[in-house]
Amino acid sequence: MPEPALTSATMPARPTDAAGATPAGAALGEEILRLKRERGAILLAHYYQDPSIQDLADFVGDSLELARAAQRAQAKVIVFCGVRFMAEVAKILNPAAEVLIPDLEAGCSLEESCPPEAYARWRAEHPGAFAATYINCSAAVKALSDVIVTSSSAERILRQVPADTAILFAPDRHLGAYLERKLGRTMVLWPGTCIVHEQFSEKALVELKTLHPGALVAAHPECPEAILRQADHVGSTTSILRYVQQSPAAEFLIATEPGIIHQMERLAPGKRFIPVPGGAGECGCNVCPHMRRNTLENLHACLRDGGPRRELAGALRVAARPPRERVVGMAAAPRPEAGLSGGGPEW
Ligand code: 13P
Ligand code: SF4
Repeated sequence: MPEPALTSATMPARPTDAAGATPAGAALGEEILRLKRERGAILLAHYYQDPSIQDLADFVGDSLELARAAQRAQAKVIVFCGVRFMAEVAKILNPAAEVLIPDLEAGCSLEESCPPEAYARWRAEHPGAFAATYINCSAAVKALSDVIVTSSSAERILRQVPADTAILFAPDRHLGAYLERKLGRTMVLWPGTCIVHEQFSEKALVELKTLHPGALVAAHPECPEAILRQADHVGSTTSILRYVQQSPAAEFLIATEPGIIHQMERLAPGKRFIPVPGGAGECGCNVCPHMRRNTLENLHACLRDGGPRRELAGALRVAARPPRERVVGMAAAPRPEAGLSGGGPEW
């Protein structure tokens, strides 16, 4: 059955503040909802957004679900509260929509690690290899790839690549290494990492496990192997969310960006979620500085001003589509016994 079209939420109209003024507190949230309705916009937010933004969104999800939501959105404006590459995917999949993002500087360390020119040279050094690329990259790198995967779809898609075909995997080497272990085959890995997931402290995690012996550990596959070895569940953000809902355990140690704990507390009330610290066990570096560039204030300004907008040159948009369409075909294959997706939807 086709999924229902997404439309903007219907909210009662509220009086406007004085021209140019930014309302504060609860009034700011109400004004955002009013402007959203006035523009006929839909607000999509990633789990790593500040809880105050998640609470205003029409849809909160992982990168795969957000891409699918953008694709089926019927609103003329999509306000994307996530990072730039996610807004780009929304534009590739729904070129008729205006795609706004509160802060155009919201990048991603994985995207930064993989400039298109360097990626093109790397590809050329491996003729005949199949180029599978994680969605956390630029549209230009997508256009140079054979297939785009997310943490929800990677394992299932890569299982379909014939055993005698070399695979190039970019840009996350930790996700790549995790997939190598799952698939039992080696790939050629681009050396990029996520600055957030790379920071988790193994020492702090082991100490937390000692302090909370009944707690289960849930980790994102962008974490290094030392963290994943300690995990009871590894998966995309949506998969981790489902895991904590379905598990009978009452306590969880969470090794991913802590924004997701907001949804965990909402969907699994009464359970306890403890964020795994980064660095030496004290720093707050497990909050994604790129995701958190979006704030209620710049979201309000974005809806008020109709920008910034994520535009993509038509040629790049068209060139980035074929890898996406290959995903549509390949993702139709049977689900592996223990997939990365943990039962998540497919592109
Ligand atoms: P998900 O696809 O699991 O939401 O991950 C996106 C991301 O950027 C993780 O750092
Ligand atoms: Fe990129 Fe890491 Fe932030 Fe995700 S958490 S957007 S991979 S920097």
